[in-house]
Amino acid sequence: MAKIYVQKSGPLEGHVKIDGAKNAALPLIAASLLGTEVVVLEDVPDLADVEVILEVLESLGSKVDYNREEKLVKIDSRNLVSYNTPYELMSKMRASFLVMGPLLARLGHTETHMPGGCAIGKRPIDLHLKGFRALGAEIVENTSVIGARAPEGLKGDLVYLDFPSVGATQNIMMAAALAQGETLIENAAKEPEIVDLANFLNKMGADIRGAGTSSIRIKGVEKLHGATHQIIPDRVEASTFMIGAAITGGDVIVDNVITSHIRPIIAKLKEAGCKIIEMEDMDALRVIGPKRPRATSIRTLPYPGYPTDAQAQFMALMTISDGNATIEETVFENRFMHVDELSKMGALIATDGNEAKVRGIPTLHGANVKATDLRAGAALVLAGLVAEGETVVDDIYHIDRGYADLVGKLQALGAKIDRR
Ligand code: UD1
Repeated sequence: MAKIYVQKSGPLEGHVKIDGAKNAALPLIAASLLGTEVVVLEDVPDLADVEVILEVLESLGSKVDYNREEKLVKIDSRNLVSYNTPYELMSKMRASFLVMGPLLARLGHTETHMPGGCAIGKRPIDLHLKGFRALGAEIVENTSVIGARAPEGLKGDLVYLDFPSVGATQNIMMAAALAQGETLIENAAKEPEIVDLANFLNKMGADIRGAGTSSIRIKGVEKLHGATHQIIPDRVEASTFMIGAAITGGDVIVDNVITSHIRPIIAKLKEAGCKIIEMEDMDALRVIGPKRPRATSIRTLPYPGYPTDAQAQFMALMTISDGNATIEETVFENRFMHVDELSKMGALIATDGNEAKVRGIPTLHGANVKATDLRAGAALVLAGLVAEGETVVDDIYHIDRGYADLVGKLQALGAKIDRR
């Protein structure tokens, strides 16, 4: 199994181009199941998670043509042959659950297994099921299998989400796109990836309004057709490189970003002492890191709050800050597994429930650490860039789930990093 080897590096310098967003690509690929014509997705990132969802689609009968060089995926879901997602694929990635809404809408039946993915808390799917029930589906659940049926078709209704879950909002939006009548999702998630999905579905002929606000109205249509759509840039990958510039005191141009999607990162990095120059006409940001970051507290929240997917990376930054910072995680119940790993590198962090107190120290030291989840893995790589000696990151399959060529991109910015 390959590992990532990181040496203490100088300031990151240069230019990095951000790929299409993983968390937009996955629901868009799932949504293509709703159409009876070919859909074309552009800027699809080359990631393990994308492979998994494409395999899921193939297992259901879709014809998939993926051109990695051109980052282009063509999907033809005209002839679906199954409503059942294979266990081995579902257990690899929790987001495979996103095919449930489209299958229920298209075939009136879907069956699946409890999803896998990152081990960050319970991550129940009760809100997805609540939505399907509200649209008239009958849910069948036993210990490992979950099924939903609506032989007469789905019927639009009001769905109130007790928490603005990203996945539940997407799944319900997709199911409702082909339901009879109108669906209103209240307390919907407002993430940019929700807006991207709504834009894509509308291009396919859906009638969805209000995506990006907490009330999304979906008027069901009979059929969805083909469409071509460019996936939005990955705001988490962008945030990771911005924090990379910050932690090394570097000077990096982060290209292919939508600035409005990363406002909380910009604000918090400025508080930490970074200079950030917005180059709007180029869809780029220049991030100049401070000599040593100022201690800055964050609290993760649903969008437009500070994203949980950039919490671990910011904690890595705070380990070498000048002062004490509090990191509060409110979205997931168990997303501090990187604390033990950062501590192996000398970081001073104490956790109490969903709060971590970080006492900044001037420098970390290299250690053998494990990527306990996707973003934790990125945080350890960033910490390795400023740790004396060598840091060896194991279990990097987590990193491959969500970062296309992290090592190559960091090398191009001057990092001493290798994968073997
Ligand atoms: C998505 C992102 C993930 C990100 C997360 C929060 C994808 C593929 N993944 O995950 O990277 O960290 O949003 O921004 O887009 N919850 C329930 N019941 C449910 C569903 C969720 O209680 O039915 C809870 C979860 O346990 C969690 C919280 O809601 O505590 C947020 O989860 P959710 O927004 O659904 O995240 P995902 O869609 O799984």
